[in-house]
Amino acid sequence: MHAFLLSLAIGLAGVILTAQSPATQARSPQAAASSPASKGAMTPAIESLLREIRTVDKGQLAVSEEDGRFLRLMVATRGAKSILEIGGASGYSGIWLGLGARETGGRVVSIEYDAQRAKEGAANIRRAGLEDVVRVIQGDAFAEIPKLQGTFDLVFLDAWKPDYKKFFEMVYPRLVPGGVFMAHNVVNKRRDMEPFLQTILGHPGLFTSIVSPGSEGMSLSYKVR
Ligand SMILES: C[S@@+](CC[C@H](N)C(=O)[O-])C[C@H]1O[C@@H](n2cnc3c(N)ncnc32)[C@H](O)[C@@H]1O
Repeated sequence: MHAFLLSLAIGLAGVILTAQSPATQARSPQAAASSPASKGAMTPAIESLLREIRTVDKGQLAVSEEDGRFLRLMVATRGAKSILEIGGASGYSGIWLGLGARETGGRVVSIEYDAQRAKEGAANIRRAGLEDVVRVIQGDAFAEIPKLQGTFDLVFLDAWKPDYKKFFEMVYPRLVPGGVFMAHNVVNKRRDMEPFLQTILGHPGLFTSIVSPGSEGMSLSYKVR
């Protein structure tokens, strides 16, 4: 009986130690500094840069902060490694995607047609310290995407709205099973992209939901395995 109680106590102690060890590690400053989450963590400098980009963004091209946070969360929670952004403008959404990719060990390719915006985007990505994670390509995404190698785990589309269906059809074959295709402005600019919405909502290979972290709306389409 004593032997049984002793082994039960040792077993329980083992379980408690095992259960506590990750939390104990997370509290150690050295572990916190090198944990994957801290590598992608927001800093006051990046927060201030993001505010600055939105302040000078007279054309109000950048996604809202809520949508930016959602992009980061999607990359991180999907564990996405290969991320494509179509329509990068001055880098606002690219920074949020890059923060997520920093946590997953992934890479973002952000394509922007306008030369001035692409230059600003690349400079802002550098200022955020994300130049090793986010690559800005200046050019027409219809011409640039076929030049990229490999498949995509997550695609974020935020270019000219009437082009959405064509972009979806171009990228869908290169989206991995379990990958996510996200499109911006599906609520506030719905009328400009009806053919795209009909395509994704009726697609047998996708599971789609419309969400609205801010007020503009995003479609999330999961490629069924
Ligand atoms: C709404 S803005 C993108 C904002 C950006 N996603 C952000 O949140 O910071 C749309 C951008 O798509 C770009 N664009 C439109 N058509 C494009 C194309 N075919 N290839 C690359 N960029 C394109 C425009 O030049 C514009 O800067």
